[in-house]
Amino acid sequence: MTPIFTSERIDFVPVSENLVPDYLAMINDRERVGRFIGRIQPITAEQDRLWVQKKLAEKAPVFSMVDRATGAFIGNIELMDVADGAGELGIAITAARQEQGYGSEAIPAFVRYAMDELGLSRVYLKAFPFNARAIHVYEKCGFREYDRTEDDVFMEILRPVPREESLSILPYTGDRLEDVLAFERRLREEEDVWGWAIDDAYIAQVKASFEDDAFRDSLSFLAYEAGQVVGRIDAALIRSRFDGSTKAYLDWICVLKSRRHRGVGQALLETLRRALKQRGIDTLIALTAANEEAQRFYTSVPNSLMRDVGIWIDI
Ligand SMILES: CC(C)(COP(=O)(O)OP(=O)(O)OC[C@H]1O[C@@H](n2cnc3c(N)ncnc32)[C@H](O)[C@@H]1OP(=O)(O)O)[C@@H](O)C(=O)NCCC(=O)NCCS
Repeated sequence: MTPIFTSERIDFVPVSENLVPDYLAMINDRERVGRFIGRIQPITAEQDRLWVQKKLAEKAPVFSMVDRATGAFIGNIELMDVADGAGELGIAITAARQEQGYGSEAIPAFVRYAMDELGLSRVYLKAFPFNARAIHVYEKCGFREYDRTEDDVFMEILRPVPREESLSILPYTGDRLEDVLAFERRLREEEDVWGWAIDDAYIAQVKASFEDDAFRDSLSFLAYEAGQVVGRIDAALIRSRFDGSTKAYLDWICVLKSRRHRGVGQALLETLRRALKQRGIDTLIALTAANEEAQRFYTSVPNSLMRDVGIWIDI
C-alpha cells in the first residue's frame, strides 16, 4: 500500500480491515498497551472493523505504521478532534515493537505531517501521570506540559513561527495598494469563492478612497508576513443620532487560506480593537459570515456576543 508519508524506517498507511488482527493483538494487550490508553475492556473484531470503516469514511487523520523493511505492523497513530487548527494526538505501539525507537521516530514525523500537510498550528495530547515512558518520549519530541490533574498530564507542541515570517500588522495606506492587490489575487488562486473581480474599476475606486476625505473614518489594517500581505481587516465608524454614539462596523476580515489557524485573524482584530479604543469607541459590530470556519472564528473572539441577525438591502 502506498504510504501517505514516511519517516526513516516507518511507512504511514491508511488504517485497513486487513490489519484488524494486528490491531486486536495490540489493543487487547491490557498490561502493555490497554492500561496506558484507557482501554480496559477487550474489543471484538467486529467492533474494530466498524472503527476502521468509520475512520475511512470520515477521512480521519489516522494511520497504521508499518516497518518498511519487513512489512511488520508497528502501531497506530492518529489525530482526534481536529478543530481550529489544533488536534489531539493518540499513539499506540504494539507490545512486540515497543522500546525500539519507533515512538520517538513516528511522533515528530506525524507532527510535521499535521502541521505542514494538514495546516495545524498545535498538536496536544493527554497521558496518564503513571505513563512515564510516554511522557519521556513526548518531551523528547518537543511537547511541553501545560496542565496536570490527578488523572491526566496535558502536553502540547506549537508550530514555530519562522523569524522571517513573523507577523506585523500595519495600517493600510495608499502606498500599500499593490501589496493588497497581490493578496487579493492570491486569495482567489487559493480559493475560488470570492465574488468580485480585481479589475480596473475596483482598483480605481480603492485608489480614489485614499484621496477622499469622506474615508477619514475608515480603518484598515494589513497583516504582513515575509513582505507579503496575508490578511486584512477593514472597518468604518458609524455615527448615529439615535443615542449620539459612535460605533464601529467591521466590514471585512480575511486571511489567506494557507495562513489560517495561526493567529493572524486574532492579531488583526486585536490591532483594530486597540485603534478603536484609542478613539474612545467601545463597540464593534459585524455581520457574521455564515460559513463554518468564520463562525468558529467569531465564537472564539473574546468579550463578544453573537446576537441579532443582519439584513442586506439593495438601494
Ligand atoms: C509510549 C510509546 C508510544 C513510546 O513508543 P516507543 O517506541 O515504545 O518508545 P521509544 O523506543 O521511541 O522510546 C522509549 C524511551 O522511553 C524511555 N523509557 C522507557 N521506560 C521508561 C520509564 N518507565 N520512564 C521513563 N522513560 C522510560 C526509554 O529509555 C526510551 O528513552 P530514550 O529514547 O531517551 O533512551 C509506546 O511505548 C506505546 O505505545 N506504549 C503503550 C501505549 C501508550 O502508552 N500510548 C501513549 C498514551 S498517552
